[in-house]
Amino acid sequence: MRVAVTGGGGFLGSHLCEALLRRGDSVVCLDNFSTGDPENIAHLLSDPAFEFHHADVSVSVEIRGRVDAVAHLASPASPPDYLRQPLETLAVGSRGTENALRLALRHNSRFILASTSEIYGDPLVHPQEEAYWGNVNSIGPRSVYDEAKRYAEAVSAAYRRTHGLSVGIARIFNTYGPRMRPHDGRVVSSFITQALTGEPLTIYGDGTQTRSFCYVDDLVRGLVALLDSSEMGPFNLGNPVERTVSELAEIVRAMTGSASAVKYHPLPVDDPGRRRPVITRAREVLGWQPEIDITEGLRRTVAYFSARPDRLGASAAAIRGGQDDTVPLSAPAITAGTTPQAIPGPATAVTDLAPSAVSVPPSVSDS
Ligand SMILES: NC(=O)c1ccc[n+]([C@@H]2O[C@H](COP(=O)([O-])OP(=O)(O)OC[C@H]3O[C@@H](n4cnc5c(N)ncnc54)[C@H](O)[C@@H]3O)[C@@H](O)[C@H]2O)c1
Repeated sequence: MRVAVTGGGGFLGSHLCEALLRRGDSVVCLDNFSTGDPENIAHLLSDPAFEFHHADVSVSVEIRGRVDAVAHLASPASPPDYLRQPLETLAVGSRGTENALRLALRHNSRFILASTSEIYGDPLVHPQEEAYWGNVNSIGPRSVYDEAKRYAEAVSAAYRRTHGLSVGIARIFNTYGPRMRPHDGRVVSSFITQALTGEPLTIYGDGTQTRSFCYVDDLVRGLVALLDSSEMGPFNLGNPVERTVSELAEIVRAMTGSASAVKYHPLPVDDPGRRRPVITRAREVLGWQPEIDITEGLRRTVAYFSARPDRLGASAAAIRGGQDDTVPLSAPAITAGTTPQAIPGPATAVTDLAPSAVSVPPSVSDS
């Protein structure tokens, strides 16, 4: 099978590309590295079954030759990323999704969408099952992400109804693992970076808000199961074990042997209080459930972060300053069409951190 993966240079996308190659598929990866990192896929470039196209999927998604499936993952995903790129986030959730759907339609191929638990907003129902419609502030700062994904779901469902396209929707809950950027502003990466550099672990609110953390390999197995099915869902994909943010901080401190203190900051606007997926549908229909517990998942993630000490110092400083990297607010340079195999430098070179012209709100606890 030849699979197009948009956002394939990102955290989840690169793991998905790898999993597909491992089982014998060919992969066409499209990315503009607005939040991804060329290092994530550098080891795949020599594989003849892997093709990289530097492309902004909000502009176009063009691929020569047959495409059997499209996995649409392109989108900024962490709060600092989408708050810094609000219009790009709306564009990739709307135009980018439409472009990816049209590609699938041209080839009559399977299409899967990486949606998010954020479509539930600050949920009034707990735990969240797919039948819940959500509680989203349509004009708050986070709406650029939440509403973009809600539109992406709506347009995907409309392509299924209107054109009979085989569409599958994954509502992904917090996922963590190797290849998260240390300064991406998500709670797991921030805590590990802070613990390993002796910085205080920043908790927003009183730490009693909950999240459920899914290890990346588990999540990718779920995406592949959805890709291989003809089901639409939507399917919650996440780990149903709920933890408070304070609990997570304690686990990370114990695992890294860190003496870092914990520092409390005000809760960001619209930060959801509780999150836990009901995964009965994914379990029964896709035969999927997570297998890797938080201790094992964090052990692997800490090992990945520890092996990159050069990145940690600058990232800890960026987290401390409430600033992220030096990505400009303007839209990234747009390559209409594609440039196979030409990988530019990362848009977010961690080692080049300089005081940013763009002040990013402090890291928040979700993606
Ligand atoms: N990681 C999570 O916990 C999580 C949770 C819910 C949903 N998701 C969804 O999964 C997908 C992947 O998330 P991730 O955690 O890997 O984030 P990520 O930022 O690491 O990856 C996103 C990738 O998309 C690329 N991209 C963004 N806009 C693009 C555009 N216009 N054209 C081409 N490429 C573009 C980025 O450069 C990056 O490589 C996203 O759609 C996200 O919304 C992730």
